[in-house]
Amino acid sequence: MEPTTITINGTPESTAAAPIQEPQRQQYYMEKARKQLSAFSTALGRPLTCCINTFGCQMNARDSEKLLGILESIGYQATDSEHADFVLYNTCTVRENANQRVYGRLGQLGAYKKKNPHMMIALCGCMMQEPEVVERIKTSYHFVDLIFGTHNIFKLAELVSTCLDTRQEKKHRTVIDIWKDTDKIVEDLPVERKYPFKSGVNVIFGCNNFCSYCIVPYVRGRERSRRPEEILKEVKRLAADGVVEIMLLGQNVNSYGKNLEEPMTFAQLLREVEKIDGIERIRFMTSHPKDLSDELIEVMSQSKKICRHLHLPLQSGSSRILKEMNRRYTKEQYLTLAEKIKAAVPGISLTTDIIVGFPGETEEDFLETMDVVRRVEFDSAFTFIYSKRTGTPAASMENQVPEDVVKERFDRLLNEVQSISAKICGRDVHTVQQVLVEEENDHTPGYMTGRLSNNTVVHFPGDPSMIGKLMDVYLEESKGFYYMARPV
Ligand code: SAH
Ligand code: SF4
Ligand code: F3S
Repeated sequence: MEPTTITINGTPESTAAAPIQEPQRQQYYMEKARKQLSAFSTALGRPLTCCINTFGCQMNARDSEKLLGILESIGYQATDSEHADFVLYNTCTVRENANQRVYGRLGQLGAYKKKNPHMMIALCGCMMQEPEVVERIKTSYHFVDLIFGTHNIFKLAELVSTCLDTRQEKKHRTVIDIWKDTDKIVEDLPVERKYPFKSGVNVIFGCNNFCSYCIVPYVRGRERSRRPEEILKEVKRLAADGVVEIMLLGQNVNSYGKNLEEPMTFAQLLREVEKIDGIERIRFMTSHPKDLSDELIEVMSQSKKICRHLHLPLQSGSSRILKEMNRRYTKEQYLTLAEKIKAAVPGISLTTDIIVGFPGETEEDFLETMDVVRRVEFDSAFTFIYSKRTGTPAASMENQVPEDVVKERFDRLLNEVQSISAKICGRDVHTVQQVLVEEENDHTPGYMTGRLSNNTVVHFPGDPSMIGKLMDVYLEESKGFYYMARPV
């Protein structure tokens, strides 16, 4: 029987045997795919379109910008429509509901493809690093043309080209290329940014922390820091291109630089980034509390460019649960750290992530979380119901908390978080602050929307020529989670 899938390069080693190195090897495939697609477009008598749907975090969003850069460079034009000629889902698997959304929408994509048989459907991202997901797609979603993972996104042109070759044979096959892990970082590929004035910049890939509930280390591999020269080169290029705000990205940016040939701390990297002219605002995501150093707090307190915002995931306020979660800090250590940061950077906005219903969480443990929430007064908190992830240590722990108990705790936590945010978010009212103007206001014509250094949203009268500019506004009124302002 003819195989219905083609599995290529199951490990990174098999590409290492190739005669030319990346990214030159990909330049060759980009050229090849460009020719193939140009012939295809001529045959159809119209340009080819592509659409990328991103699920998940900033890391995925940045990956999607790279994937779009490659698709545009080989001849696709971006569209929002899922009726495009090439549709790519960049998936997330951090919680089960992220997976369910993908399966739900895939069914609909299959129906579109029936109407437009030359459409190509591709799946990538964290979900695809799970073998059982790939099996399910192979058996239940035959119409998918291409599946790849998180470690080889740089190969997209090559993979598209392979798919086009298999189409020539007039047989439908799913091309699958998943790597278990990689030590490779491929630089200098095309990128198509979503915003002209702000950009994410990867500094470290992967995660070594293995928090017991979390699937990310299994799907994103071990920590790999980019070389500082590459990061600084990219930031300089972005500045020259008109970018004024950057967000340095990593699952745990505070681990940056440990494995470099010449080790360097994240705080040292920040000092270097800060020297780059044209960059006015620097953000970073995410900081693990166990690794947040005094050196970093000092750099933040001295810097004119680092934004007054820190996302510091708490996960739980109970030291016992934190131990079970393998977070490696206690409630007291977290509280001390939060105090230290608030004292060093006045007016800083602290935001967090909290999981409710981790296995074995008692009412007492939950009350410890509520206590931290009240004491720290987070500007906002992302609250999540614990989701069992196959293969993680927490999935096989006993004492999974009943659903109704979790739901009740979740509602209580959300209420508390929201009432604290409403109370403290307006603290800068009646002052002049700088905003970065981001977009036109969706609801009120003649109004623009921007963000303060501490990430709070501000609406004010203006016009689209202001987009991408930093300007001063007077905060007239606090609306709880955002301000109404006027330019000064
Ligand atoms: N690297 C980041 C987090 C990435 S995942 C960090 O360490 O902070 C984003 C958030 O998803 C986590 O902070 C956590 O709160 C939540 N999360 C991760 N796994 C989860 C799970 N199994 N169930 C519910 N929430 C989870
Ligand atoms: Fe997941 Fe923990 Fe790594 Fe964050 S630090 S990605 S929560 S394992
Ligand atoms: Fe999701 Fe992967 Fe990010 S699992 S949260 S997209 S690293």
